[in-house]
Amino acid sequence: MEFRDLMRKRRMVRRFRREQVPPDALQRIAAAAHRGPSAGFAQGVSVVVVTDPTRRARIADLAGEAAWRARGRDPWLSAAPAHLVLCVEPGVYRARYAEADKDPAALAIPWWWVDGGAALMLMLQAAVDEGLGAGFLGAHALEGIAPLLGVPDGVEVLGVVTVGHPLPEEPTASVRRGRRPRSETTHHETWGG
Ligand SMILES: Cc1cc2nc3c(=O)[nH]c(=O)nc-3n(C[C@H](O)[C@H](O)[C@H](O)COP(=O)(O)O)c2cc1C
Repeated sequence: MEFRDLMRKRRMVRRFRREQVPPDALQRIAAAAHRGPSAGFAQGVSVVVVTDPTRRARIADLAGEAAWRARGRDPWLSAAPAHLVLCVEPGVYRARYAEADKDPAALAIPWWWVDGGAALMLMLQAAVDEGLGAGFLGAHALEGIAPLLGVPDGVEVLGVVTVGHPLPEEPTASVRRGRRPRSETTHHETWGG
């Protein structure tokens, strides 16, 4: 698929067929997280691949899927056959930026979140490239996921990328608002340009 087509095709998917994803496709999607750039090439992004149905059901519970369904929505996390849990390690960045060729002051911007975002985008796109779909639920909505998966102290869970065969779904209220006009978000030479 042409990259420009893949970009247009990608949508957050929150409705999945309960059909397994080929393990090699899942591995390629998880591996995509590690093809991204990283500040100082610190490579502080990790992925926990979860396919076990009981563990996925526990993650869905943590995400409040019962309340989601009570609002008339189809199950999201429990139906998705794979959860790729995206994690970042601030300590890896602090260690890298303490090295002689780096300045720790550069971490005034917590680059691990930026690298996590880049990894997220690559995984979402890799899923489309595999003929699958992917959604993202932020860890703010997943309290308790770190102990459930044995994620150690010092590792931050960014969220869960749900991967599977997409089912049709209505656009969300956010998406229905439409994209901001490009004239507001792309400027030429100066902010006013
Ligand atoms: C950093 C980030 C966090 C997001 N968190 C959530 C989330 O917790 N729950 C959710 O349903 N969607 C979440 N989304 C999906 C956005 O709502 C979605 O990307 C946006 O509405 C545009 O839709 P599209 O990706 O289909 O173009 C998140 C997206 C990003 C980039």
